[in-house]
Amino acid sequence: MNKLCLLSFVIGLVSQSAWAETAVKPASNASTLQAKNAFIANLMKQMTLDEKIGQLRLISIGPEMPKSEIVKEIAAGRIGGTFNSVLLPDNRAMQDAAVKQSRTKIPMFFAYDVVHGQRTIFPISLGLASTWDMNAVTRAGRVSAIEAAADGVDMTFAPMVDITRDARWGRSSEGFGEDTYLVSRLSATMTRAFQGTSTQAPNSIMAAVKHFALYGAVEGGRDYNTVDMSPVRMQQDYLPPYRAAIDAGAGGVMVALNAINGVPSTSNAWLLQDVLRRDWGFKGVTVSDHGAIKELIDHGVAKDFREAAKLAIKAGVDLSMNDKAYGEELPALVKSGEVSVQEVDNAVREVLGAKWEMGLFANPYLRIGAAVDDPADRNAENRLHRAEARDVARRSVVLLKNENDTLPLKKQGTIAVIGPLAKSSVDMLGSWSAAGLARQTVSAYDGLANAVGDKARLLYAPGTNITDNQEAIAYLDKMEDQIHIDGRPEQDMIDEAVKVAGQSDVVVAVVGESRNMSHEAASRVDLVLPGRQRDLIKALKATGKPLVIVLMNGRPLALGEENKQADAMVESWFLGTEGGNALADVLFGDYNPSGKLPMTFPRSVGQVPAYYNHLNTGRPYRPNDSNYTSNYFEEPTSPLFPFGYGLSYTQFSVSDIVLSINKMTRNDKLTATVQVKNTGKVAGETVVQLYLRDIAASLSRPVKELKNFQKIMLKPGEEKAVTFTLTEEDLKFFNPSLKYAAEAGDFKLMIGLDSEDVKEASFALQ
Ligand code: NOJ
Repeated sequence: MNKLCLLSFVIGLVSQSAWAETAVKPASNASTLQAKNAFIANLMKQMTLDEKIGQLRLISIGPEMPKSEIVKEIAAGRIGGTFNSVLLPDNRAMQDAAVKQSRTKIPMFFAYDVVHGQRTIFPISLGLASTWDMNAVTRAGRVSAIEAAADGVDMTFAPMVDITRDARWGRSSEGFGEDTYLVSRLSATMTRAFQGTSTQAPNSIMAAVKHFALYGAVEGGRDYNTVDMSPVRMQQDYLPPYRAAIDAGAGGVMVALNAINGVPSTSNAWLLQDVLRRDWGFKGVTVSDHGAIKELIDHGVAKDFREAAKLAIKAGVDLSMNDKAYGEELPALVKSGEVSVQEVDNAVREVLGAKWEMGLFANPYLRIGAAVDDPADRNAENRLHRAEARDVARRSVVLLKNENDTLPLKKQGTIAVIGPLAKSSVDMLGSWSAAGLARQTVSAYDGLANAVGDKARLLYAPGTNITDNQEAIAYLDKMEDQIHIDGRPEQDMIDEAVKVAGQSDVVVAVVGESRNMSHEAASRVDLVLPGRQRDLIKALKATGKPLVIVLMNGRPLALGEENKQADAMVESWFLGTEGGNALADVLFGDYNPSGKLPMTFPRSVGQVPAYYNHLNTGRPYRPNDSNYTSNYFEEPTSPLFPFGYGLSYTQFSVSDIVLSINKMTRNDKLTATVQVKNTGKVAGETVVQLYLRDIAASLSRPVKELKNFQKIMLKPGEEKAVTFTLTEEDLKFFNPSLKYAAEAGDFKLMIGLDSEDVKEASFALQ
């Protein structure tokens, strides 16, 4: 390009940028869309093939490529974006290299796994889902976006909306659970919260929903494993949450690592083109998962790196995450004609489009800001949102058992706080805790201590290590889990804990998993409490002291034994920065628990996949009737705690259901009303859940499916009418020909406070 050309090129960019500065609306508006398309088309005309390919590379800051080399690569036009960098000076230097040194001056974008918080960490996603509270989840998502944007982040690889029915899968913790309706609501809510009023706003980040698709259905719960699934199940149960994010405006989609019916998502043109773009109308950018293009060789669909790159670009993977596939292979592939310029252009257009939508052409420093405004201390307390974190965290706690009103505890006497997780603040953060710091995080012990002040005495003993399994310890070390292993013999630790418990009025045992036990590549073969923790619980029970078990874990556990031992049991997941304080709010009754389980808790690992919305089979399980019925013979086949379950410090009653009509035409609206009353002594919230069953259809339909819910607050003695409205839309499903339609016939409608404890009514669609 000669000097004159370059000048007009730059002037072109500047004038486009100046125009774009005022354009903070999403591109849905026709004239904005036109301007965006014209701008990008003009820009692409001026780019060389190498520069285009450079835009398709997304590189992780880290050992794979040091910062200094990345800056050089950016200046040479060979990188489109990076992830894992949250230091403003670093991002500024990279942006400088892009807009001041590279020939095209195309800005970089910066991505990060902002899954449940940035600096302030909220509960893990499974905890967020337990709130069944879209306002709370919106607050978590908004704060995450505000803090991430202030760290110079433009895009998050979230929400993670993989439906999960197998608790062995460590990534259960990252998702919102097993139910299509609940996960879809959360998916849309989180997407909107991240993106705010516009992805071009300085305090918004673009959502890249993941992992597309069906990653939660890996066989045996073993990470990265195969997914084989019928088209009906995909469409009905697994795909809707991704679509919900897209309908809510998600600008990005991360492609899953797994294969679907033999075809890896990364080379799956049906998935990325037919479903995503043609059927759903997705207009944003697709991102491969980490190194996924190269993995096409291991999947056995590409013979070499070159073929892997070819398959991925042809399937519709726009950005290649952290492998050299596109950079190294596309030039030759285009030269030989195996990949067309058009195919490369399609991907580049989406990447540039995403940068436009993130407001970066208008202002490359939109989120990075000016150096003079950098915080003196990036970890400063005043950059955190503790009040929001505490409130959301306490809403995510699920009360599983409360015999004899053991809870709430009184702030008096002596409380023994026992357990390997009691003083762990790093575990409180959960996995994927972005830029959250353990030293800014309140452990369970510290939270209880803060709450009681000098009103009660706290005693402590670790009781046991989290695990004594050497393979697990070696694995967790590799994952930088920082698990603390006490050198003493486990039995000595248990004995010490028993002694401490003996001096107390009540025992609070904080047990469960370390955070990286529920993480990527962290699948388990068992779901019981790891190591000697079960023995610890038994020993504590034997002291005769009231026993409160507080669970910290990122997946449903098999808690049959603990349920027998505990007087009270609380599922706290991993609560985040304010975890200990939130937990104390619940344990002392300053907050009345209202969380409900987003995943079924099985009795044993042998029950998984365990999910409430299963089909009936021809010989359905019936309690106390094991005569050639579909059951396990060693223990009840029902779950220990069903989906939607969670207690309160008060009690609620639900009246019989009143339907507005019993016969419904396709244009009718049917209302179902129950009276819900707080029959206990304290104010509390509960989640009123509506389920449906299609009695006879062209294919077998689930025994029940969640269709709606309302979270309501009731004062003691207060009663409220809760009304749900149903239309034909709510009765639709994918039939054997994959047509989404409602079929005439009888339906059972159920309303209750969990998926098992329901009132029933019937109606028919005519
Ligand atoms: C791999 C994970 O599967 C994905 O969820 C994550 O977003 C990327 N790594 C980037 O960290």
